[in-house]
Amino acid sequence: MEKVQIKVMDNGSYRVTGDVELIDVDGNVFETKKVFSLCRCGLSARKPFCDGTHKGQFDSCVRVEKVLEDEK
Ligand code: FES
Repeated sequence: MEKVQIKVMDNGSYRVTGDVELIDVDGNVFETKKVFSLCRCGLSARKPFCDGTHKGQFDSCVRVEKVLEDEK
């Protein structure tokens, strides 16, 4: 089975690629496509999905912190 990928987009959504089940807190299933975006900014009118409202209104560029071999 192919790994599901969640990509943290610069100044935007979480891009989800793969076969996943997206549910609400009550266990109700959201219909999803093979690739979809989840809102990370909190501004979408279509939560949990991104509707593009973040553009120009949300700043967040997340990067993995590199750990030097000596520090492990
Ligand atoms: S991340 Fe796109 S609307 Fe929130």
